[in-house]
Amino acid sequence: MDHTIANVRPATDIGETRQELIHARHLPGGIYSSPAIYEEELQRYFYRDWLYMGRVEQFANPGDYEARRVLGRPIIITRDKDGVLGAFYNMCRHRGVEVAEGKGNARVFKCPYHGWTYDLSGKLVGAAYMKDSDGFDPKTCRLPRINLEVWRGNIFISFAAEPPPFAESMAEFEKDFAQLATEKCRLADVTRLELNCNWKFMHENLMDFYHVGVLHVKSFGARFSWTTDNVRLKDNGGITIRYDAAPSTPGGEALFGKAPWLDAQPNSFACTGFMPPNMTLFGRIDCVKIMVGWPIGPDKCEVFIYMLFPEPFFADPEFDRKLKVYKDYQAIIYEEDRSMIESMQRAMALPVYEPGRMSVMEKPIHHFLNGYLDRMFGPRG
Ligand code: FES
Ligand SMILES: [Fe+2]
Repeated sequence: MDHTIANVRPATDIGETRQELIHARHLPGGIYSSPAIYEEELQRYFYRDWLYMGRVEQFANPGDYEARRVLGRPIIITRDKDGVLGAFYNMCRHRGVEVAEGKGNARVFKCPYHGWTYDLSGKLVGAAYMKDSDGFDPKTCRLPRINLEVWRGNIFISFAAEPPPFAESMAEFEKDFAQLATEKCRLADVTRLELNCNWKFMHENLMDFYHVGVLHVKSFGARFSWTTDNVRLKDNGGITIRYDAAPSTPGGEALFGKAPWLDAQPNSFACTGFMPPNMTLFGRIDCVKIMVGWPIGPDKCEVFIYMLFPEPFFADPEFDRKLKVYKDYQAIIYEEDRSMIESMQRAMALPVYEPGRMSVMEKPIHHFLNGYLDRMFGPRG
């Protein structure tokens, strides 16, 4: 079945996911494998919403920049000479070549093709042999700007001409996760994974606490406790969950101690947040992890995992050794999850696949998917 927006039959194809959780069923395979649905998701979610791009300390000094391709679009994030953060299309105004590569510190970006040169605020500052081009005004030429905002040390961009108001988009996270004080944390590590699955599976898996006691029973499952009453449902398919878990180390110990601002909380303090479309946050007593899923096709995605620790932890003389413990442990868990969601993806293209019934333990996924259906197919009747 190749679903497009036009040929999804709401009543039969997605109607059972629309039901109340106790009656609900998962979504058909086409929603996770159709190129047409994928294109529509880019338009309705990814080219519109605020998207997590990393941390301000990755651009600590004037001249710092990073070029990336996001959803196939070449972009640059910079801190200009006045210290202002900006995001631009990495696209020369002459013929469109990418003017910057990789990351580093630069005074200008010089296009490798014909040498047009831009400063870090995107202004064209040099274009040889253009004086005789009648009416050409370099001042009207700049790298096209992309919206950029910062929330508590975290950088977000939006490709939309008129993005949703940023403060409104962040309001629930501000309410629920301000206490994690990510502005007083610093990036310890970025891990990038490529997964052979639809981008939605990555976030569904992270909010799927149903599997924790089974798949992860040998890793962290035994130190995990929650009930469906812990789940708070937000507009738009967003989720917040408060629960009990241990720090993400093999023995469940906080190797650096507690974040000073969470001192009153027990060691088992744990929270998770999902902000549509593609950001999941995990808070622990000692660490914040932000996981961002980027679609690269209907059945492929890449994930960036940003591991943040409170600033004071970085002074620990054993910082590198301890960080490695966190990273190695995280890698074990991701591999456990990876094999499940890649296996699930293989089923999505099979004509014999029929979506199964949901458990009440899947309350977060049910909410996320209904927010998704509202956005993709219009609100419930
Ligand atoms: S494409 Fe950049 S200078 Fe020609
Ligand atoms: Fe998992």
